[in-house]
Parts: sequence; structure tokens; C-alpha cells
Amino acid sequence: MLKIVVLASGGGTNLQAIIDSIEKGKIGNTEIAMVISNNEKAYALDRARNYGIPAVCISPKNYPSREEFYKKLLLTIEGVSPGLIVLAGFLVVIPEIMIEKYKNKMINIHPSLIPSFCGTGFYGLKVHEEALKRGVKVTGATVHFVDEGTDTGPIILQKAVEVKQDDTAKILQRRVMEEAEWEILPEAIDLYARGKIKVREKRAWIE
Ligand code: GAR
Repeated sequence: MLKIVVLASGGGTNLQAIIDSIEKGKIGNTEIAMVISNNEKAYALDRARNYGIPAVCISPKNYPSREEFYKKLLLTIEGVSPGLIVLAGFLVVIPEIMIEKYKNKMINIHPSLIPSFCGTGFYGLKVHEEALKRGVKVTGATVHFVDEGTDTGPIILQKAVEVKQDDTAKILQRRVMEEAEWEILPEAIDLYARGKIKVREKRAWIE
């Protein structure tokens, strides 16, 4: 059984997609051992509690320094011994020590086709605003392993989504979630649980 820890800062719709996919058997042999948020008001925590999943808030506001916050975050994760960490809209910079420890064992969902509209400052609605500004006709979502850069790790899955003439950033965000994120994030977890993802240097592939 693969134990996963999901880290989320906001609404948690991606978390919900994971929960639903486990219930429907679309993700096999996997349990969510814990959900952690940096934001005590994150609806992701309520979603977890509704399903009896342990849910904890670890907020940097409650620690005297960034180091203390990271220490608590890492210790809490280690206490669960997860096989995989899933960043599902987690808006905290991941400390290097955690990246090293969970190399190729930590994945992130990003709401664009990397390498477009990614990197520092590109998160949430901002990504879709920039895609609309640039006038792209196709955007999408990417699941990738987390490495020391921002959105630079090996790409596992991507899915394209059409941009329509009258889209606002909010409408586009919703379409990218519905058509891409909520599909490829659960799919990547299932592939991981089945040991199907191989990585060599910057490239990941499905076997
Ligand atoms: C999602 O769109 C996710 O791709 C994005 O935050 C949103 C979280 O929504 N993540 C990033 O922008 C990371 N760079 P959710 O809380 O409803 O899953």
C-alpha cells in the first residue's frame, strides 16, 4: 500500500480528485495518510476531515523562524513515512533538505504546459492571466517531480486544454482543472503506486 501525504494551501479540489479516484478505484493500492496545509483556513483541511483523513495545519506564522517551520513540516511528514508526497496547490517554497530527501518521491501539479507560464511567481490565477495576455490558443496542466528549481523537475504527465475567445482567467482556470488537473494528478499517483514511472536525469517516462 502506497502511503501519500498531500500538501495543499487552498480549496483542495485536486485533493478531492485524489480522494474520489481512490474511492472509485482509479488510483489503486494507495492511502492518503495525512493532509497538511500552511493555511488554517484552507478548505482542503475540511475536505480531508470529512473523510476521516488526518489533517493538520503547520503555519509559518506559528514559528519563530522559517527554519523552525520547515523543521516541524519535515518532522511531521517523516512521522508518517510516506512513499510519495503530493503538492496539490501548495504555495510554500520547499526547503532543499526536503527536496533531497524525497528526490523522485515528491510530485507537483502545475496549471500550465511547462515550460510555459511557470517558475517563480507563476501560481494559481496568475498563470491563467498570463496565458490569456499572451494569447495562447492551447494551455493545460503538468505533473512533474519536484527538484531544486521552481517547476523544473522531470515531467511525468501533461494534458492540453483549449483556450476560448471569451475566457476570463477564472473560466480558464476552471476548465484546466476539470479537463486536465483532476485527471492527470490522480493518474500520475496511480502510475507511481504501480511502479510504472521511471526517471533518468531530467526525463521521466511511463513503462
Ligand atoms: C491548482 O490550479 C494548482 O494547479 C495550482 O493551484 C491550484 C490549487 O487548487 N498550483 C500552482 O499554481 C502551483 N504552482 P486546489 O486547491 O483547488 O487544488
